[in-house]
Amino acid sequence: MPKNLDFVQAASIPLVSLTSYQALVEYGHLKHEQKVFIQAGSGGVGTIAIQITKALGAYVATTASGKNSALVKSLGADKVIDYHTEYFADELRNYDIAFDTLGGNFLKDSFKILKAGGHVITLNGLPDYRFGVDHDLGRTRSILFEIASTHLRHLAKKYHVFYRFFIMHPSGSQLATITKFIEEGKVKPIIDKVYSYNQVFTAYDHLQSKHAPGKTVVKINV
Ligand SMILES: NC(=O)c1ccc[n+]([C@@H]2O[C@H](COP(=O)([O-])OP(=O)(O)OC[C@H]3O[C@@H](n4cnc5c(N)ncnc54)[C@H](OP(=O)(O)O)[C@@H]3O)[C@@H](O)[C@H]2O)c1
Repeated sequence: MPKNLDFVQAASIPLVSLTSYQALVEYGHLKHEQKVFIQAGSGGVGTIAIQITKALGAYVATTASGKNSALVKSLGADKVIDYHTEYFADELRNYDIAFDTLGGNFLKDSFKILKAGGHVITLNGLPDYRFGVDHDLGRTRSILFEIASTHLRHLAKKYHVFYRFFIMHPSGSQLATITKFIEEGKVKPIIDKVYSYNQVFTAYDHLQSKHAPGKTVVKINV
């Protein structure tokens, strides 16, 4: 637990920071001064992904609505696209990494904004054969994944980029790196609301709105 966080703040960190770190560093191979696009920068994942990207010395473009523009800029976003008035795929070109958190057409259009050799990393896409093998899901399921993801792999081939869907995995060493960023003041938790345990259904409804900025924490008093 980072020395400068309390329990509520610390509880908000592991899922979204490991997800972001793995997308950017483990799968996206992010390097200093590269250009990164983060879809939905005001969300739980996006708010931390922006800060980690900046801590690693790269340029960040992100989408947010007008009401969250100041938030994502305060976290370090270099370019903010108001998704109510502009479409990211019309605005961005020659990016190294597109970190997609929304899926669907947002994912498909992420391929268009990359330079050759870039990486589309998604939390809401389809797994491929390698995913099935990596997760010990057996040959039959892995083949089905490969078939289901055909159109995404075709897009990757067409644009000469890499495609990766993943599910976050635990990592003590990555958490240690993130803890260092937090203690150095490079990454901070963004918490929207804190609920008590008897408000857990209200908290769930809040998250289901898909418009909660940052993280929502349920506090259990023991
Ligand atoms: N695979 C994994 O390991 C993994 C790990 C963590 C999360 N996830 C998934 O990743 C996704 C993102 O999670 P999250 O916690 O970051 O979501 P979230 O916090 O619920 O995202 C809400 C935020 O997204 C913004 N938003 C909504 N629609 C948008 C759009 N079209 N363009 C830009 N911004 C938009 C909202 O801003 P406005 O109010 O301004 O609209 C709000 O700030 C979820 O589907 C989650 O299940 C997967």
